[in-house]
Amino acid sequence: MFDLPDDEILPLSKEHVFYTWSAQARVNPIPVKRAKGVYFWDTNDKRYLDFNSMTMCVNVGHGDERIIKAMQEQEAELPYAAPGMTTKIRAIASKAVADVTPHQALTKILFTLGGADSNENAIKLARGYTGKHKILTRYRSYHGATMGAMAATGDPRRQMWEPLTMPGVVHFLDPYRYRSTFHRTNPDISEAEFAQDFLNHLEEIIRYEGPETIAAILMESVTGTNGIIIPPEGYMQGVRALCDKYGIVMITDEVMAGFGRTGKWFAVEHWDVVPDIMTMAKGLTSAYAPLGAVAMKPEIAAAFNERVFQSGLTYTSHPVSLAAAVANIEVMRQDKLVEHAAAMGPVLKRMLTDLGESHPSVGEIRNIGLFGILELVKNRETKEPMAPWNGSSPEMSALKKFCLDNGLFLYTHWHTVLIIPPLIITETQLQEGMEVLDKALEITDKAVTGIQ
Ligand SMILES: Cc1ncc(COP(=O)(O)O)c(C=O)c1O
Repeated sequence: MFDLPDDEILPLSKEHVFYTWSAQARVNPIPVKRAKGVYFWDTNDKRYLDFNSMTMCVNVGHGDERIIKAMQEQEAELPYAAPGMTTKIRAIASKAVADVTPHQALTKILFTLGGADSNENAIKLARGYTGKHKILTRYRSYHGATMGAMAATGDPRRQMWEPLTMPGVVHFLDPYRYRSTFHRTNPDISEAEFAQDFLNHLEEIIRYEGPETIAAILMESVTGTNGIIIPPEGYMQGVRALCDKYGIVMITDEVMAGFGRTGKWFAVEHWDVVPDIMTMAKGLTSAYAPLGAVAMKPEIAAAFNERVFQSGLTYTSHPVSLAAAVANIEVMRQDKLVEHAAAMGPVLKRMLTDLGESHPSVGEIRNIGLFGILELVKNRETKEPMAPWNGSSPEMSALKKFCLDNGLFLYTHWHTVLIIPPLIITETQLQEGMEVLDKALEITDKAVTGIQ
């Protein structure tokens, strides 16, 4: 198709590509050549086991011919239509997405290009619907890199652009048990009391800010890069109740946790909660094409029945992306991938637990479905992290390098290691990755201090 010798890909990229989240002089990307199933290969034919689904998005695995074919057929039939028109694939895709929402209650779908603009549009919808302006989000969150989504993001990725991001965001604390400030002296508190403490904290903030000023609470249903924080039982239901009590729109960001990742179509379903608005991207097409979506209850959409929704995107409902989404949902159903992720949850937990038992640098493990994390610490008692907040350390860099050298691609974030493989992964393939990780953890074990 397009010719370029393998050994010229990296130098030419370094010359012309401007990389995101990177200091340009330090980028050293893997030149990827092909991918299939849970593996990808570089230009030297080195194989990597993909423990991060690339960017936590290739949920159905690489190279699925059914999705590729659907996209090719759509491209041949009609590659594009204007946003104000409609197409067969737009009708089919909006129903397909509405049908997988919790209790099929989010019946109207606004298609976007990815996660950030889904959150931007969700915020606009909530503001337009309520006539209020503040947005409450959590400190341990990531919602995207556009100005509004970045303001909503609680983690340090927003800080470089402040104070000129979107005004009106107030952050609150996450129910993060392992490092809960409030529970250092009573770590054995019951799950119900723990959840209630964080709901009380949230309600206090709602009162201080003034419920009459708050349009929405936006939260990742299960926190992704900031720590696979799985809400305690009762927490999500409690947030729903607070939103109802104070007339606040509940928006859940399912960009990373959605589409089977946690063993349900969407993570909120674990707590049987129906948000008013849900944002999605990544697993929506398994990254075969860029696409995001905002699913909303009919009453949110109805607020714009007579009023214009002042927002738009040239590429909203791009037919080729929608074909990828419809085929992706079909593949997930046909191959029972949500069920498979649910079944693999206990398998992953056992493997992570084993690693925790044999490595003193593992402070805690958590997972829900195929959404897992290891928190690495220098000392289990003090919980001193293996890398500082918003930083790296020689040990974490060495662990990551060891994994890559040994053909295991995974994501490390500060002092954590994330395990987010394609949902098609088998027990044997998971084990294959764990064996590399088992050896890599010997590096971080050496940095452990004190009595374990
Ligand atoms: C929870 C969450 N929300 C939003 C986003 C932003 O998505 P995108 O990069 O497609 O804009 C991400 C991306 O990682 C995410 O993890």
